[in-house]
Amino acid sequence: MNRAKAWAALDIGPQWIPRRRAGSGDSRAPAAQIAAARGETDATATEERPDAVLLGRTPDTEEQAQPAAAGSGDWQVIAADWDLLRAEALGCSRCALSQSRRQVVFGVGDRRPDWVVVGEAPGAEEDRRGEPFVGEAGQLLDAMLEAVGMSRARGVFILNVLKCRPPGNRDPAPEEVRECNRFLQAQLTLLAPRLVLAMGRFAAHTLLGTDEKIGQLRQREHRIDIDGRPVPLVVSYHPAYLLRSPVQKRLGWQDLCRARALVPLSAPGDQKAR
Ligand code: URA
Repeated sequence: MNRAKAWAALDIGPQWIPRRRAGSGDSRAPAAQIAAARGETDATATEERPDAVLLGRTPDTEEQAQPAAAGSGDWQVIAADWDLLRAEALGCSRCALSQSRRQVVFGVGDRRPDWVVVGEAPGAEEDRRGEPFVGEAGQLLDAMLEAVGMSRARGVFILNVLKCRPPGNRDPAPEEVRECNRFLQAQLTLLAPRLVLAMGRFAAHTLLGTDEKIGQLRQREHRIDIDGRPVPLVVSYHPAYLLRSPVQKRLGWQDLCRARALVPLSAPGDQKAR
């Protein structure tokens, strides 16, 4: 999905924002300024950010949605898109999960990742702490990532198909997946990973648009379109399943090695080819 389509799906449009002139200055976070420019209050975006923005504006066409060339007058453009998207997700009430959640679990990790790891939905611990994969399954995931030289601080961004916890950890409902897929697609577009690791059947089914069995899907090579680029996608078992069926850990490990062979961790400072 390209960036303009991702924003269209969210009904919010990309926000191209002029960088503040030297010496002028609203130091609120981008999301707060966008909210203010729209005449809304954004209680979630109060952090102080020196590299702040003045005003939001939504381009009417895809051509307009291109960043201006560096140095093109006052309308030098920065993308505060991530902050905006995050603010939209934190305030989301598109489905009933917004009534039962404690927190929206937006995702965590390297904002310029080699890999994006996609799980299913937050559990109780994630709902409490606001971070994905922090329970037992998360500890296994961290150990697996560490074994291939990666971590949530280095090379990897971790997120879920659903940003809110389904009560009692029930399976995500189709309409919840459909609503939340807008955020997932926009996150992938903005993160621009070199590889996606889909953990478990909900992630694989949502990203590939299929309901084939995971045992079959994990044995094939996949690519998904992210912002017009074909990005390799590796399907693997969910870490919670591996905890329940430890004999399958060997297969999970094979999947991770396959992903590493396709896209290894970039060296620090490397310009990542995207
Ligand atoms: N399982 C998931 O799929 N995601 C989490 O964040 C935690 C457990």
